[in-house]
Amino acid sequence: MMTRQPIVVSHFQVEPLLAARRRGDKLVLTSLDLGLSQTEVHLEADRVVFPDGQWLPWATIDEIAANGTACFLVADNTASKIQAYSEEFGRFYSLMPTATAPTVLISGILMHRIKRVDPIEDTRWKIRAIAPITDRVLDTATGLGYTAIAAAKTADQVVTIELDPTVQDLARLNPWSRDLFENPKIERLYGDAFDVIQNFPENAFARIIHDPPTFTLAGHLYSTDFYRRLYRVLKRGGRLFHYIGDPQSPSGRRTTQGVIRRLQEAGFAQVSSYLPANGVIVRK
Ligand SMILES: C[S@@+](CC[C@H](N)C(=O)[O-])C[C@H]1O[C@@H](n2cnc3c(N)ncnc32)[C@H](O)[C@@H]1O
Repeated sequence: MMTRQPIVVSHFQVEPLLAARRRGDKLVLTSLDLGLSQTEVHLEADRVVFPDGQWLPWATIDEIAANGTACFLVADNTASKIQAYSEEFGRFYSLMPTATAPTVLISGILMHRIKRVDPIEDTRWKIRAIAPITDRVLDTATGLGYTAIAAAKTADQVVTIELDPTVQDLARLNPWSRDLFENPKIERLYGDAFDVIQNFPENAFARIIHDPPTFTLAGHLYSTDFYRRLYRVLKRGGRLFHYIGDPQSPSGRRTTQGVIRRLQEAGFAQVSSYLPANGVIVRK
């Protein structure tokens, strides 16, 4: 049986409703899953009616249209921002729309690149860096699951680790993250990647995608100790992509130099910058 997917919209999806209202149309096509598919929506004098019978007053549609940084879940004829505060980690997360897939703001810091490339293109570059992706893959930081989902297209299995279950609560509401929960090739684990990685045997993975939060949020994921742990679980001949951040910015340049030095200290022999994905590629 098909389960009905939640209605999730941002200003990108309600703008066609407002334009249709101005034209006097009664029926309009828009997306109710952040751009993935198109659905017919009925426009009435005082409200918008969705195919599942839910409705929103025009005042709420105006509020969504005026908010450039939030995605909204429609439930019980009410629209609420998709955001959450994690008591455990003291971080605030909010799903932020783009013209394609949304990203997440972690306490104000973006989880994906959105300038010049969108989160999907950003993900493609991270995957291309270590293509072909085959065999078993470790994804050290799940987030919205875009890297895990993309890797699972060609890998036999993807193991992905997320520190904060609150991020997964947001991902569950994100239509673009659906495969993270539905693709049987993806195994989701919770915890600090620094510790969880110790549970894997040596040489367990042919590819590793290391896409950590910024250095200030997770410095230990940029340490020689952690890189030694990555080295242990990577197969000989295997490859690792490490996202770092804009290498052109002063802080990005400094971080990149430090990362390269510490990866070498950890035993990796071939370390090279990969500018299109703002990171480095490493071979064992
Ligand atoms: C840049 S995002 C990853 C984006 C992800 N690759 C994607 O495609 O959506 C970083 C993620 O790592 C999580 N994280 C932070 N510290 C972590 C840790 N120590 N171990 C594992 N995950 C961590 C954050 O909560 C966040 O969801």
